[in-house]
Amino acid sequence: MVSVEVESNYEEMSKKAAREVGKEILMHQAPVLGLPTGETPKGMYRLLVKYYEHGLVDFSNVTTFNLDEYYGISKDHPKSFNHYMKRHLLERVNLREENFHVPEGEIPRRDVRDYCGKYENKIKQAGGIDLQLLGIGTNGHIGFNEPGTGFDTRTRLVELAEETLEYSFDNLNEAPDKAITMGINTIMEASKIVLLASDNRKKRAVRRALEGPITEEWPGSVLQLHPDVTAILDEKAAEDLELSRVNLTG
Ligand code: GLP
Repeated sequence: MVSVEVESNYEEMSKKAAREVGKEILMHQAPVLGLPTGETPKGMYRLLVKYYEHGLVDFSNVTTFNLDEYYGISKDHPKSFNHYMKRHLLERVNLREENFHVPEGEIPRRDVRDYCGKYENKIKQAGGIDLQLLGIGTNGHIGFNEPGTGFDTRTRLVELAEETLEYSFDNLNEAPDKAITMGINTIMEASKIVLLASDNRKKRAVRRALEGPITEEWPGSVLQLHPDVTAILDEKAAEDLELSRVNLTG
């Protein structure tokens, strides 16, 4: 079941998302969060840091698993998701480094399969993901599960779609063409999922994910099969939804 919450703008979307995360942390003794990167969740991370600074959230028992990482770039590369997570969360709150997990982008090719299996095992050992936060690509990808990805997939090495690279890199010569990502099945095993989307550029992917037919061509559409999904959208990302038309016309 997907419930949809449309907020007036990016700030409100971020606030709603940060509150959901805060609530989840308070509800569990050892919360396990699945985390995304990208532009969309930056406001949410900023607010979580603020809540932490005001003593409202404590990350000391929180474990995090990131969705994905580019393959073939180092942890310190400015475009790496490891670097992003350190800058936006790890270095700013009391999350323990040993509880912080981002797939490694520099695993030798022959060890990747084994490494991905171990990443899955760590999630299981932590008790599974309580709350998985997701963004969505303009082509409907979740994590780096590009169109055509099977719904039965788990953490693995994938090829990135042209559209994804063009969206994320100004200079395509510098862009990695692969990534390690949690699979669709890994994501769907989370107890609860929150999907975030803002801006016009996401409206088609949001419509296809939430109201379109469930198809591997639009990976986000698999979320309709999960029992507990909340989509937190700003008005622009929600523009194409049938639901918005109903609201507008009363
Ligand atoms: C990236 C990530 C996704 C993210 C998406 C949207 O490629 N792998 O996890 O949700 O693209 O990014 P943004 O929030 O910058 O639009």
